[in-house]
Amino acid sequence: MDMSPLAEGAFSKLLERATGQELVAGRRWRIETALGPVMKAQGFDTLDQLATRLGRIEEARLQQEVVEALLNHETSFFRDLAAFRSFADEVLPALAELRTDTKRLRIWSAGCSTGQEAYSLAIDFRKKPDRWQGWDIAIVATDVSPQAVSRAREGLYGQMEIQRGLPIGDMIGWFDAEGESWRAKPELRRSISFAVHNLMEPPPLGRFDIVLCRNVLLYFPMATRRAVLDRIAGAMAPDGLLFLGAGETVLGQSEAFEADRSLRGFYRLKGWQKA
Ligand SMILES: C[S@@+](CC[C@H](N)C(=O)[O-])C[C@H]1O[C@@H](n2cnc3c(N)ncnc32)[C@H](O)[C@@H]1O
Repeated sequence: MDMSPLAEGAFSKLLERATGQELVAGRRWRIETALGPVMKAQGFDTLDQLATRLGRIEEARLQQEVVEALLNHETSFFRDLAAFRSFADEVLPALAELRTDTKRLRIWSAGCSTGQEAYSLAIDFRKKPDRWQGWDIAIVATDVSPQAVSRAREGLYGQMEIQRGLPIGDMIGWFDAEGESWRAKPELRRSISFAVHNLMEPPPLGRFDIVLCRNVLLYFPMATRRAVLDRIAGAMAPDGLLFLGAGETVLGQSEAFEADRSLRGFYRLKGWQKA
């Protein structure tokens, strides 16, 4: 598929303006694959034609469609199982100890995609009803993509999706079969507040004890990454933890965080000292 540098520039600029995400040169093939269906649906023969139309101010809906198509929503249940294990076995018990007075925990899944990350968290809590009896646990899950958030809220997953990372026992315990698909049980869905939110804007209100921002920072240019991390830091409780994706780090990218000494993949606000 032909695409002029001008058109490539227009798609990159649009995505970065809307989400902060950068389309690096190595991902050019992705533009072509992702935009093929939009181009076809809109009756354009070339990506250049699509890019030209995008420039018009009245094409906000088309712009949104292109942004949606260019976002990477890759996700799965309990992604990076080792980190989820240490989350359930070490992070949560340690935090619970710090919050015995209030019995209140607030967790933010930022860049939640189609919801698998948030449902994995909710399952971790629901698996230990005695442990969390009487606790007020809020899970807020957000994404810049309205389509992803609406799918997350529906909690409906096809065979391939449900099998990615979800143990069969959890699938049967926490999802109901619906035709060929599986829908998260109402109580599981009710335990998560899904909302559209752009990490380029101020964070949701309140202080979070845990923030997951996994496999989202990857495509932000360095300055944006730093700004997003600062914004997240401002939304966290002083003793809160940031949970990144496997292979991601804040080291050298943020003045606000440092790696937790004992928990791989978890970061703390700089200067926090355990009492
Ligand atoms: C690769 S997925 C990762 C999903 C999940 N966190 C995981 O690790 O499996 C990245 C998600 O970040 C979202 N995203 C990208 N830019 C964003 C922004 N500026 N604000 C909020 N979400 C964003 C994308 O829409 C996408 O759903």
